Amino acid sequence: MNDQREFWNDRFGREGYFYGTTPNRYLASHIDMLPPQQTLLFLGEGEGRNAVYASQCGHTVTALDAAEIGLAKTALLAQQKGLEIALIHTDLEQWNPLQQYDAIMCSFLHLTEPLRSEVFSKSLAQLNKGGVFVGEFFSIHQFSKNTGGPKALELLYTANDLLAIMDTLPCDVLELCEMDTELQEGKVHNGLASVVRLKVRKR
Ligand SMILES: C[S@@+](CC[C@H](N)C(=O)[O-])C[C@H]1O[C@@H](n2cnc3c(N)ncnc32)[C@H](O)[C@@H]1O
Repeated sequence: MNDQREFWNDRFGREGYFYGTTPNRYLASHIDMLPPQQTLLFLGEGEGRNAVYASQCGHTVTALDAAEIGLAKTALLAQQKGLEIALIHTDLEQWNPLQQYDAIMCSFLHLTEPLRSEVFSKSLAQLNKGGVFVGEFFSIHQFSKNTGGPKALELLYTANDLLAIMDTLPCDVLELCEMDTELQEGKVHNGLASVVRLKVRKR
């Protein structure tokens, strides 16, 4: 836990919001399509930009992260807008989920195997039947780009890797694509970036 926690606390401890306060565009487009008053969990939510957006849309929202400084900034952003967001401070390695959700989402959650597969498996288990998992990840093609993301291949994704994981889980893949997209997200996600987008529905 300490590695991720210290790394991200250092970034989130700086002035301002590292990835801004505007939600990730892919996640926001799916939040906009949800029925009213859903229960949502955001994994690796950092400083809360997606969680606050979902809460503003009227959903009941939980944000999980290993970095407590990110969660404190999530709470502050929510409070400034008169919203309440539940917080879970844990490393996903120790995640012991207790609740069911209608949707679980994440943006740029950089996980290595085997934790990556474990987190997808646990997420599917925590979704209500018909619930959706939505994520945007940096693809391996982002490795040579300077528009954000980790410089470690094992933290980057391919659509094929994700498909292989999803094939083992009780879900239908609704969307899975590798593409380039223009990011404008705070201090470091700026410019053309290579991503993998995934949306699945629990059977
Ligand atoms: C690139 S940041 C993205 C933050 C947020 N999702 C966003 O897009 O604004 C990655 C986030 O994932 C969290 N994270 C990474 N590994 C984690 C783990 N093993 N357990 C919990 N959180 C983790 C970090 O603390 C950080 O907040």
